[in-house]
Amino acid sequence: MKEDGIREGVWVFGYGSLIWRPGMAFAERRVARIRGWARRFWQGSHDHRGLPHAPGRVVTLVQEPGASCEGVAYRLHIDQVAATFAGLDHREKNGYQRRNVRLEFRPGGTGAGIVYIAPVGNRAFLGPAPLDEMVAQISRAAGPSGTNVDYVRELETALRRLAIDDPHVFELARRLREGSPPSPGPELQSA
Ligand code: SIN
Repeated sequence: MKEDGIREGVWVFGYGSLIWRPGMAFAERRVARIRGWARRFWQGSHDHRGLPHAPGRVVTLVQEPGASCEGVAYRLHIDQVAATFAGLDHREKNGYQRRNVRLEFRPGGTGAGIVYIAPVGNRAFLGPAPLDEMVAQISRAAGPSGTNVDYVRELETALRRLAIDDPHVFELARRLREGSPPSPGPELQSA
């Protein structure tokens, strides 16, 4: 770290599956925060936690004044930067784009980072939905990377281990533990 508190190197910021399954080699890993963004289960997953005809829900970041998102920043080995981004571009291909962000490291220091964000309106974007609907969709969905429920559980566990608070994730995980709401009875289904 330089004397002014700036951490040099190429950093990738993860806020979803990249927290617990980085799937890349890295030189250093730190908890970090980015400001102005909120983590939301608003992105459809047709390739990892769902299928083309039955997408799951995974996290993206949405801009929200005053919000911030904590996650994990990875400093890449300088000779592996190109190969690492090629791998990440493939993994995050379902609507995510790279974006430059300012990282605030815990417990201190700042740096430049790159984050994969699936912007509002991308082809796999689902947007907000009532909690019951999200719970029902996530309970059903599964894809090549596993069940959608496991994605939520893994994220919750990883955040708690890192002492990162996220009421949106924790509420969803709690509701999934309690089970899906009952499906409507026959009289409602035929209405
Ligand atoms: C991320 O983890 O940073 C991106 C979203 C995901 O792959 O779950």
